[in-house]
Amino acid sequence: MLRCIECGREYSEDEVRYRCDCGGLLEVVIDLDKVENVFNGENITLWKYKSFIPVGKKVSLNEGGTPLYRLKNLQRELEMKELYVKNEGANPTGSFKDRGMTVGVSKALELGMSKVICASTGNTSASLAAYSAKAGIKSYVLVPSGKIALGKLAQAIVYGAKVVPVRGNFDDALRVVVEASKELGVYMLNSINPFRLEGQKTIAFEIFDQLGFVPDNIVLPVGNAGNISAIWKGFKELYEAGFIDKLPRMIGIQAEGASPLAKAWGEKREFKPEEKPETVATAIRIGNPANWKKAWRAVEESGGLFESVSDEEILKAQKILASKEGIFVEPASASSLAGLIKLKKLGLIESDESYVLITTGHGLKDPNIIIENFKLPEPIEPNLEAFKEVL
Ligand code: F0G
Repeated sequence: MLRCIECGREYSEDEVRYRCDCGGLLEVVIDLDKVENVFNGENITLWKYKSFIPVGKKVSLNEGGTPLYRLKNLQRELEMKELYVKNEGANPTGSFKDRGMTVGVSKALELGMSKVICASTGNTSASLAAYSAKAGIKSYVLVPSGKIALGKLAQAIVYGAKVVPVRGNFDDALRVVVEASKELGVYMLNSINPFRLEGQKTIAFEIFDQLGFVPDNIVLPVGNAGNISAIWKGFKELYEAGFIDKLPRMIGIQAEGASPLAKAWGEKREFKPEEKPETVATAIRIGNPANWKKAWRAVEESGGLFESVSDEEILKAQKILASKEGIFVEPASASSLAGLIKLKKLGLIESDESYVLITTGHGLKDPNIIIENFKLPEPIEPNLEAFKEVL
């Protein structure tokens, strides 16, 4: 069953519907009497948790089961007790979106839909394109013109999506997609579709399964605010099912130039969308996060917070994570480490607690950002002497 988070009205899962008649966001209600306790640390993949997933597995590329690393070098440098990364870049198309799409595209097939659509800053489009290719259905993706990382664009093209650049930002593209899904009978797989979040909540399940305990804090980037809502839902379901006896704090990090949630949180005022979001972390270049209400509740209920980081802090954290821990992530993903470093400096986090940073997308998606900021030496003659000279 689907339930409105605002007015509580309920709807059948068999109906194509993204919002309540009152305009509120919907969420899927899971029957927690029927879920299985499979949290034994073994054979971790997304579909291991199928008793929590309200859709049958119809299309899969073996998503989930991503590595969870202890950041031993950084932990020492930052003088923290327990620091981990859950690296979602290791999913089939290189981002956490695959979790949402294995479930979302399976749902599209269950509903008999033969066309799917999304607006995207890049990763959602790559993932939707791949899963709809595998499912043999048509996909349409609308992206902000000139503001999508090269690797993501290449992915959407090669998987065979109809790629449509939009003169505008993500928020503009999403507006068109919402209208198109209504008028043209195309199934929308942006994160306001509650089934997407049902896939993404498995990040929480895997963290608990891999660690064997619930960490004190989860730190992750926030764009359209779906993922933070999904992970919180996952932990709450584990708690309500009686499989865990504590909940983590959710710490959402935004890029300074696209930080409507962090600003409202910091200034203790009402949420207000931003007209002209701008950041080097194009994945989270979003001024009007569609899921902001769910995200706000997640942070409030969990006793967490929102914070923002500058582009400079993001790029610095990206370099630190790669050069100290061997983990190359795209700029948006590095905002979780940048956020942690900032909060540590501000004295807003406890060094003896455990932290899991979610890195959401692979660094190879956006190679330009590295290459543009690095000057290679002049080429040398192909002999040892020449090589020795440059050493
Ligand atoms: N990190 C990456 C790498 C992303 O691609 C996104 C969102 C986020 C974080 C933020 O997640 O939106 O659930 O808060 N990317 C979307 C896209 C918007 O179109 O690929 P969120």
